[in-house]
This record gives sequence, structure tokens and C-alpha cells, in this order.
Amino acid sequence: MASKGLPGSGGWMGRLVNALIGLVLMGIAASVSVAATEPAAEDAAIAQSLAEMLRDARAIISNNQSKINDPEIGDKGLTAKLVLDQAIDNYKKNTGVDPATIDPNSRHGRLLRAMMAAIGEVMDANQSTINAKGIGFKAFIPAVFGRLVGESFARLASGEAELKVTAPPELVRNRKARPDSFEENIIKTKLVEPAWPRGQPYSEMTDAKGRPAYRVMVPEYYAASCLTCHGSPKGEMDITGYPKEGAKQDDLGGVISITLYRAQAQ
Ligand code: HEC
Repeated sequence: MASKGLPGSGGWMGRLVNALIGLVLMGIAASVSVAATEPAAEDAAIAQSLAEMLRDARAIISNNQSKINDPEIGDKGLTAKLVLDQAIDNYKKNTGVDPATIDPNSRHGRLLRAMMAAIGEVMDANQSTINAKGIGFKAFIPAVFGRLVGESFARLASGEAELKVTAPPELVRNRKARPDSFEENIIKTKLVEPAWPRGQPYSEMTDAKGRPAYRVMVPEYYAASCLTCHGSPKGEMDITGYPKEGAKQDDLGGVISITLYRAQAQ
């Protein structure tokens, strides 16, 4: 009689315990698979925010290009602080949000601050280039700035996220900007398609470097100002020493590619 109530393998208690363990395990399995295939609710907003901050800072470099290229001026005053302050102003104007109000302990706050730190790092590291007197073109242009910020960001975001400015393979100038197979595939099958809505980002929950990741590709198009280097005649050297691509205004010129790695399931 007494043995019937004990949690032995045949007792009702044992079966109940086994059933409960089974349910718990099923629950864990379900939540793990959801975690690996569904983007987190905030992923898209974080990716957009990182791309926005990069663009806002890159615009400051672009606005100051003739000053940067001026051989007569030594100190240009284009410090990390100035570029960051103006980039933050642009970000506020374009999003209505002050980055300072985003909780630094949240994933968004942490990654956006890593992006701002990367911008500051690149400006600090290039002061002597920017301030060199007697040199006109210094090859410090928005595209180089964007590549360097992406490299710093990957380091500062230590495995949590990456951002890279890439392009259709036939347009890539710097080997470091080459698209990986995912990026190349999305560019070729989606972003260059005439039916793709202009400017619309592509996003997907997938794997990157063997880890589950949310990946976003934000298309960018050539403006008239880009064509002095990327335009016609195709093959002619531009001021930077690269052959022009023969691109036209509004062609897909590049992609801001953001990878948000999914935290390992607990
Ligand atoms: C002064 C010449 C010049 C202008 C103007 C220019 N680019 Fe570039 N672009 C370059 C150079 C040089 C590189 C390679 C940068 C590097 O070494 O990372 C580059 C790289 C890029 C890349 C990264 C992929 C790659 O080829 O390495 C993209 C995307 C890009 N440019 C788009 C644009 C767009 C869009 C504009 C206009 C808003 C523009 N560029 C204006 C010279 C220019």
C-alpha cells in the first residue's frame, strides 16, 4: 500500500514527475527554436538606428570635404567631438530621438554607443591626415570613413554586432568591402531588381559565421555628386586613383549591411 504512493518508476508520482519534466523540456526546445528563427522585436529598430548614425556622421564628412581637401588650412577643427555633436544633431532631426535618452544598459543603447565611440575613434586616429598642411586630396572621403567606422564598430561591439558598407561585387573598390555570399545573393536577387521598392531594407533571421543572426541590408543609391568618381567615362581614373565604374544617378551604389548576433540561448 505504502509503496504505491512513492515516486518509483511505476508509481503515479513517477509518471507525473516524468510528464512534468517532459513538458518543461518541450517548452525549452520550443523557446530555443523560436529564439533561433524569429527576430527579436527590437532587432529591426536597432539595425535602422545603427545605419542612421553611420549615415549622419558620414554626411558631416561629406559636408566638410572641400575643407578637408584644402592644402592651405592646417588645423581643420574637425575633431571627434565636433563630428559626433553634429552627427547626433542629424540623428535627432531625422528620428526625433535623442541618443542620450536611450538606456545605455539596453542592447540598443549599448550598440548605439559603440557606434558613436567608433565614429570618435576614427576621427581621433585621422587627425594628422586631416590636418596635414600642403596636401590637397588626402583620401579621407565618406566611403573610407564609413569603412573605418565599420571596422572599429565590429571591435567595440565585440561579437554582438557588425556593420559593413558593401556593394554589388562588380562595383567593389576596396577588397575589404566585398560582399559575403549572403550579401551578394541578396543584392543580386532582391536589391537590384527593378521591382524592389527604392530604399527598402531587406532583413532576414539567418546564420552568420555559424551563429544565429538577424541581418539587414539597407540599399544606397548614387547621387549626382557620386558620379565624379563612380560615373563616366567608365575606366577613366578618378581623383582617388580608381577607374570610374560608369554608374548612373539612382543606380544601386552600395549597401549598409548590419548583422545582429543572437545571444546564445540560456
Ligand atoms: C572622391 C571620389 C568619390 C566620390 C565622390 C564617391 N566615392 Fe564612393 N568610393 C570612392 C573610393 C576611393 C572608394 C574606396 C574606399 C575604400 O578604400 O574603402 C569608394 C567606395 C565606395 C563604396 C564601398 C564599396 C567599395 O567600392 O569599396 C560605396 C558603397 C560607395 N563608394 C558609394 C558611393 C556613393 C553612394 C557616393 C555618393 C554619395 C560616393 N561613393 C562618392 C570614391 C568616391
